[in-house]
Amino acid sequence: MTKPFHDMPFKSKLPNTPASIFSRMSALAQEHQAINLSQGFPDFDTDPKLIEAVTKYMNEGFNQYAPMPGHISLREQISFKYDKFYGINVNPADEITITAGGTQGLFTVISAVVEKGDEVIIFEPAYDSYKPAIELMGAVVVPVRLMAPDFKIDWEYVRSLVNSKTKLIIINNPNNPTGRVFSVDDIQQLEYIVSAHNIVVLSDEVYEHMVYDVHKHISVLSSEILRSRSFVVCSFGKLLHTTGWKLGYVIAPAFFTIEFRKVHQFNVFSVNAPMQLAIASYLDDIDYYYSLPKFFQEKKDFLLHALKDSRFNVLPTQGTYFMLLDYSNISEEQELDFAERLTIEHKLAMIPVSAFYTHGDNQQLLRICFAKKLQTLTAAVDILKFI
Ligand SMILES: Cc1ncc(COP(=O)(O)O)c(C=O)c1O
Repeated sequence: MTKPFHDMPFKSKLPNTPASIFSRMSALAQEHQAINLSQGFPDFDTDPKLIEAVTKYMNEGFNQYAPMPGHISLREQISFKYDKFYGINVNPADEITITAGGTQGLFTVISAVVEKGDEVIIFEPAYDSYKPAIELMGAVVVPVRLMAPDFKIDWEYVRSLVNSKTKLIIINNPNNPTGRVFSVDDIQQLEYIVSAHNIVVLSDEVYEHMVYDVHKHISVLSSEILRSRSFVVCSFGKLLHTTGWKLGYVIAPAFFTIEFRKVHQFNVFSVNAPMQLAIASYLDDIDYYYSLPKFFQEKKDFLLHALKDSRFNVLPTQGTYFMLLDYSNISEEQELDFAERLTIEHKLAMIPVSAFYTHGDNQQLLRICFAKKLQTLTAAVDILKFI
């Protein structure tokens, strides 16, 4: 008799990869009808003008495959933005590819660059998709642990990790979950390391337009040295409050883009056609980019002010729409235990920061997402003030 498949030996390619903490906390929030500040998505509406534009292109019949690298009107719009914002020249024809969100961009870069046995340096706390993608390629993750309160990078230590197997360094600037933004010095230190070795850079810049106070976003594209060896990943989900649309893009020099597209075309081939066209027309209004940091700064400042009298210590947020709360004045519980208890007993869900590390110590930190309506944030503050 033939054996059923589940009785046959089958080796998982990702044996140590649990379900994501975001799904776990969101499910717990739903079960206990808690306010969900755990997952990184807005709870406010998408601009009706953008939705109308998608409907318009659908009605006009743009419902078949888009070109493999993306609609040229959208790639031109992206190129226009880099010119206007940073004075950087990006060629829409052979340096930009439209992807199914930032996540697909990240995965495709890693697939195109990383080989079995390579080493990839990542900075932790890190976005959760980097590690499994590297491991699927048979490569080795080399984590650099950054710790609260400032999560400063010790570049001397990073240099000590580089060897002949180091293929890629992944940075996330502005960083989820720390809210930290790269300084001029960070960029120079990175330049120094990668130019001394043959290392590729993957720069995850999905929060580039959410930078506050005196801080400025410095893209790796603004450095001659980094630009020639970097892939930059961006997300329209973050930019336009449309995380469910899963659209983004990757910028890289032409010779890298050729390699990227070889994988991209057999991964998704091309991505959502009417939405690409709608986004291209919507972004004709360049003021949108300028309005975004102000929009989120108000939410950040509201929380900062409202939590002054609470027992939580708020860590500074330089960028992104995340804020870290230190609860060491309240409890010695492990982060996951504390986060679960708050969800169940106080009806407020947040993310334990230890989940962003390979081996997470208890720093007594929780991450909240403030891309929420004022009403949601006010309700959350009313809970946090009394914990
Ligand atoms: C740092 C970082 N990179 C990439 C992504 C993925 O972006 P997308 O939703 O466009 O796939 C996220 C989403 O939360 C993120 O926080």
